[in-house]
Amino acid sequence: MPIQIDSTRLQQELQTLATITSIEQPAEGTAVTRIVFSPDDLRARAWLKALATAEGFLIREDAVGNTFIRWPGTDPTLPAVATGSHTDAIPHAGMYDGTVGVLGGLEALRALKRSGLQPRRSIELVMFTSEEPTRFGIGCIGSRLLSGTLDPTRADTLREANEPADTAQTLAAIREAACFQGTLASTVLPPNHYHAWIELHIEQGPLLEREQIPIGIVTSIAAPASYRFTITGLGGHAGALLMPDRRDALCAAAELILSIERHTLATGAIDTVATVGTCDVHPGAVNSVPSRVTLQLDIRDTDPTRRESVMQAVRRDIEDLRQRRKITITEELINADAPAQSSPHIIETLEQVCTEESIPYKKMVSRAYHDSLFMARIAPIAMLFIPCRNGVSHRPDEYAAPADIARGTHVLAAALAKLASE
Ligand code: GLV
Ligand code: MN
Ligand code: MN
Ligand code: MN
Repeated sequence: MPIQIDSTRLQQELQTLATITSIEQPAEGTAVTRIVFSPDDLRARAWLKALATAEGFLIREDAVGNTFIRWPGTDPTLPAVATGSHTDAIPHAGMYDGTVGVLGGLEALRALKRSGLQPRRSIELVMFTSEEPTRFGIGCIGSRLLSGTLDPTRADTLREANEPADTAQTLAAIREAACFQGTLASTVLPPNHYHAWIELHIEQGPLLEREQIPIGIVTSIAAPASYRFTITGLGGHAGALLMPDRRDALCAAAELILSIERHTLATGAIDTVATVGTCDVHPGAVNSVPSRVTLQLDIRDTDPTRRESVMQAVRRDIEDLRQRRKITITEELINADAPAQSSPHIIETLEQVCTEESIPYKKMVSRAYHDSLFMARIAPIAMLFIPCRNGVSHRPDEYAAPADIARGTHVLAAALAKLASE
């Protein structure tokens, strides 16, 4: 029987998942905030597992909460074919980032089952823990761990990034409270665990929509890095502390942010991007001169050497800032990752599916990072992109059309079927 995607059900499930969120719905769209190990995240996990159980799929969870939903193949000893993404969402996010890959992946498995397929290799759906860096300051915690990229001991000592230092809890404490126990070393997957990996995701950029192409086949993923800067100056009374005596940490931070922007633009490359997305001001009172500021920087490039050259230029400006403003600036590296390349064989499989189904496609780079960046270290990977309206993502008005989601899910299912028969 042909593969038929139940688009109505998939849409209903995306809508249901979008209601598992901690914030009220603003006028500009469905806003979703689902922070890892929050009550909403735990509710979403339970709901997803119930859907998988209803299909008779097998479920395994590891010590960090990565969830593996398996449809056993006729030869379950062979390395499995896998797909998946994440369901956590940054504050005031939309409802499609990550969720399309998880619920689309689930629907792909169900559609293949309905088609009567008996896969030779097992097919697995993975829901990763904390793809988003919101809570612990570093993204892709689940996939970093299972690919052996993040040291398990360091992972357990990660602290909540947006809480005051004296109350921020560790990942170890928070995952245990969420009932994910055991050593994080046990999350590492053995070599050759997967035969192939494909992640379905909204593009999060405008190219597919602009060019009216319904499918993007990702050939590489850009290299992300992130840093935390702490700027310490001198606080005091906003009226009494005279301007010539000031060592205002926020003024120094402002210069630092603009230095980052200037050097990023100076590469002249469209692929170099940098964002300072958080700024924590201490003590945070209107009539108190800021004595300490913490900034989180996210910087990415398809070329990690160019990314590092921006950082070198910023560091030279930091030296100047230190002397001129008599403040201290410490730089903490959170992560500096290499780019990932997709597997020619999986790209070819996806191209074959699109050609067979007469679906136009385009090969492209992913500028956003994904768990696939780390899956690429342990398995042959590729990603499938679908268009999203105006290229918008990480915003409540993020939107992907039902027909595009269904088409992407269809291509995913057909590719999984091919790979599972190898
Ligand atoms: C992940 O959400 C990213 O920022 O690319
Ligand atoms: Mn995201
Ligand atoms: Mn995502
Ligand atoms: Mn992402």
